[in-house]
Amino acid sequence: MSKKYNIAVIPGDGTGPEVVREGIKVLKAAAASRGFAFDFTEFDFGGARYLKTGETLPDSAIGEFRKFDAMFLGAIGHPEVKPGILETGILLKIRFALDQYINLRPVKLYPNVETPLKDKGPEHIDFVVIRENTGGIYTGHGGATRVGTSEEIATQLMVYDRRTVDRCLKYAFELKEKRNAKDPKYAAKPITLIHKRNVLTHCGDLWYRAFEEMGAEHYPELRRDYNHVDAANMWFVKNPEWFDVTVTENLFGDIITDLGAMIQGGLGVASGGNINPEGVSMFEPMGGSAPKYAGQNVINPMAAIGAAMMMLDALGEAEASQAIEAAMVEVMQNMKSQAAGKMGFSTTEVGDMVAKLVS
Ligand code: IPM
Ligand code: MN
Repeated sequence: MSKKYNIAVIPGDGTGPEVVREGIKVLKAAAASRGFAFDFTEFDFGGARYLKTGETLPDSAIGEFRKFDAMFLGAIGHPEVKPGILETGILLKIRFALDQYINLRPVKLYPNVETPLKDKGPEHIDFVVIRENTGGIYTGHGGATRVGTSEEIATQLMVYDRRTVDRCLKYAFELKEKRNAKDPKYAAKPITLIHKRNVLTHCGDLWYRAFEEMGAEHYPELRRDYNHVDAANMWFVKNPEWFDVTVTENLFGDIITDLGAMIQGGLGVASGGNINPEGVSMFEPMGGSAPKYAGQNVINPMAAIGAAMMMLDALGEAEASQAIEAAMVEVMQNMKSQAAGKMGFSTTEVGDMVAKLVS
């Protein structure tokens, strides 16, 4: 019997279902000609369901998700739901409960994709951000007292322990080894830790020492570099070609990967993986639910197709994953723009073209 992967799908809100549909189309096409198959199971979690039932994500769903080989997420976010409810109730709940401790965000500019950076092309923008995905300020430690008074106090703590830092760094060093082996252009560049250890003298020091110790002991052949996060922002814009594998804590990673998404051509093309290397990982386009484009067949599905490509790679289907990337590159050559409504094609047409090339 041929290999079959069971995938949990959360299409979500806004344009989520439209882009997920194209991702699934491409996955099916890639599998069909390569002797493996997918079984997709849809879950309706998101803003619409919350407004109807008051439920974000029941604990029982987490148990369900554990049975799958991977998860595919469209977008969570609804204009009628107060900020924070769906984010913490669905997205962050999944990341934490399934211990998806790596957020892998490639920043790669493909040919014919427009970057706002002057004089920079695909040869300059090809790196990855490894964002620690379960710790830091996102843990929710802290609180507020005297709320509503002029003496109100609020705290939200950056929490890290050595194990959480070490497992993230290990993933980063291993990915760096793999990329170096793949291409000498990566091997010429360092692995870069990004933090703010000039001010965050406790958390920054923990990350820095862990990075230096693990690097020196286990990966002495890898050149290590360190940037403060504010400076890293600056260099991402001025000299993105300096970077290959970068690794950072949760909130800094959140912030710098939106910058990364912009320099690789915008949210229409930026994909990410919430990865538990020992468990169930979830892949998603980085753009939000974009409600103003919903239902018009104009949103760019490339980020969702890129997420599908990352999923295949994580599942061990490297050849199929590379075929999707090659197809994306070819289709992007013919697109007028990567912005919604300006592609020169509809959402479904872009999906059809990629699917055809990978079959
Ligand atoms: C992201 C998003 C989320 C985050 C939000 C929606 C909670 O911005 O995936 O980058 O902050 O992690
Ligand atoms: Mn973000």
